[in-house]
Amino acid sequence: MTVSEALQLESVSPGSAAMNGAQPFDLWLHQHQARAQRLIERFVPQQHPLVPRLHEAMHYAAALGGKRVRPLLVWAAGECVQADERALDRAACAVELVHAYSLVHDDLPCMDDDVLRRGQPTTHVRFGEALALLAGDALQALAYEVLTPEEDIAPALQARLCALLSRASGAEGMAGGQTLDILATGGALSSDDLMNMHSRKTGALLKASVLMGAACGGFDSAHAAQTHAALATYGDAVGLAFQVVDDILDVTADSRTLGKTAGKDAQQNKFTYVSALGLDAARTLAQELRDKAQAALDTLPPPQRAASPRLRDLADLIVLRGY
Ligand code: IPE
Ligand code: IPE
Ligand code: MG
Ligand code: MG
Ligand code: MG
Repeated sequence: MTVSEALQLESVSPGSAAMNGAQPFDLWLHQHQARAQRLIERFVPQQHPLVPRLHEAMHYAAALGGKRVRPLLVWAAGECVQADERALDRAACAVELVHAYSLVHDDLPCMDDDVLRRGQPTTHVRFGEALALLAGDALQALAYEVLTPEEDIAPALQARLCALLSRASGAEGMAGGQTLDILATGGALSSDDLMNMHSRKTGALLKASVLMGAACGGFDSAHAAQTHAALATYGDAVGLAFQVVDDILDVTADSRTLGKTAGKDAQQNKFTYVSALGLDAARTLAQELRDKAQAALDTLPPPQRAASPRLRDLADLIVLRGY
């Protein structure tokens, strides 16, 4: 589905996470992908008088394509806890901006050296390495600007969201995992080390998306600890599953479908779940992680469990997706 198709679908009925409980998942998905697109266009306009070339590169990296899985997780977790919509929107946008920055840097010649992303030339191919590096830097900084408005989000929630996002994207999370990935290239890892690398480089940001959505519902309600524990387990499982499936798709899908270069992991001697376990066992693992994520939703307190079908559907989407 293209973003313009999503935008057309969205005009069928206006998006509101609270209203959408009875909607088919497909419609919810399209509406919320369009909602992510609108937020990105708002916070990362293509044209900006300040430093036009930098803004153009930021917009190119963040606005053009992408499945928006992380914002979807924010909104789905938010539905579980009847979260505040304005805070959810900002959290959803912020995590997608950090993700977009991580992709720009991941594709750089000094990292994975990729020329294709989201069906287009990578940001450094289009704008040059220096601009790509700086656009990534600026997208990361912008994420925290989006999380700290003068109004819309209570100060304690702003701090909580910033803490979740910074931990998930820094040395403990994405940047640390990317370092492990670079250091492991050409070598081999134990199964614990492989899990650690994937959980950090990709899983951490997906888990943070779930916990940021949950945080927008407040963190001192009667069943907050039980809710947090269930969603943390869910986030760990879908986060790892996401990269296991990414490893599988690198081998099984073509570049046109993926919008990025297929077969890149083997070409670069990356240590992945497919190189470690083979395709069949990697597929089995992805399904087990999906089951684990969905079982965690069954441990939510009853009101949150009743409001968790989107998270269940997203676990299926993450494992069954074709790109
Ligand atoms: C790709 O992420 C990079 C990984 C972390 C595995 P996505 O598959 O979510 O990429 P987009 O946002 O849809 O392009
Ligand atoms: C990237 O993993 C994880 C990030 C933190 C961006 P990959 O290197 O496998 O992601 P793709 O396949 O290039 O999207
Ligand atoms: Mg990489
Ligand atoms: Mg890569
Ligand atoms: Mg990959």
